[in-house]
Amino acid sequence: MKIDPLLLRAAWIKKKQEGHRWAALTATDYPSGRLLDSAGLDFILVGDSLAMVALGHADTRGVTLQTMVHHTAAVARGVQHTLLVADLPDGSYKTEERALKSAFALRQAGTIAVKLEGGQDVCTILKTLTSRGIPVLAHIGLLPQRVRKEDGYRKQGKNTEEAERIRADALAVEEAGAFGVVLEMVVPSLADEITRMLSIPVIGIGSGECCDGKILVLSDVAGFSPWFRPKFAACYGNVAREIQCAAEKFIREARKTPLKNPGESASL
Ligand code: KIV
Repeated sequence: MKIDPLLLRAAWIKKKQEGHRWAALTATDYPSGRLLDSAGLDFILVGDSLAMVALGHADTRGVTLQTMVHHTAAVARGVQHTLLVADLPDGSYKTEERALKSAFALRQAGTIAVKLEGGQDVCTILKTLTSRGIPVLAHIGLLPQRVRKEDGYRKQGKNTEEAERIRADALAVEEAGAFGVVLEMVVPSLADEITRMLSIPVIGIGSGECCDGKILVLSDVAGFSPWFRPKFAACYGNVAREIQCAAEKFIREARKTPLKNPGESASL
């Protein structure tokens, strides 16, 4: 399905004026997409964090466009009602031509919109995508695709220079036509200021309580990966325990009944 980027942006700006609070989660596959589709979220993101939470890589750079297309198609098969956004992975939007090709591939896989990381430096690409009918969600503040080049996973906007750059990035992506912006790990006072400054919604992750909405990774929220959860991510479930209990019950059940004729089975 296609949605005109201008119409989507206008609808989101109006909702922000009306005081709407956005709630979004990531999905990685068909069951998570299908379950989340009926939950009433504002959008579902096929985030490149799937590199870590679904594929066991060290960071989001471990995911290729091909992999994102594969997972986007799986999620899209389960999503019928909710706005679907897919991440353009690292390296897939280095040039305008490449970005268009990558975004069209994700759209072909079933997404409606794409998300890309960066501020002033990606505005030309952002404008090109929206002018070709692809709605773009921006992502500024901490950029997971660049954590290795930068200072790791640390709070953004603590000093004046950095805060100024994040403000400029926020204004730039709004100006370039993004319909919303994800603001990751930005100090809450600055996140509050940016939320008031922009007319498009600001969706925070680890950026305090004053953004227009929040996005989190499903496996963190559902307690699916107990070996790692960022400090800011609230956990509302214990899927890991459910899976372990189910597996243990199954093992007990499977081993309870002795083989009818062990000798016969061993000789096979
Ligand atoms: O890849 C991801 O999961 C993200 C976050 C904003 C949730 O980009």
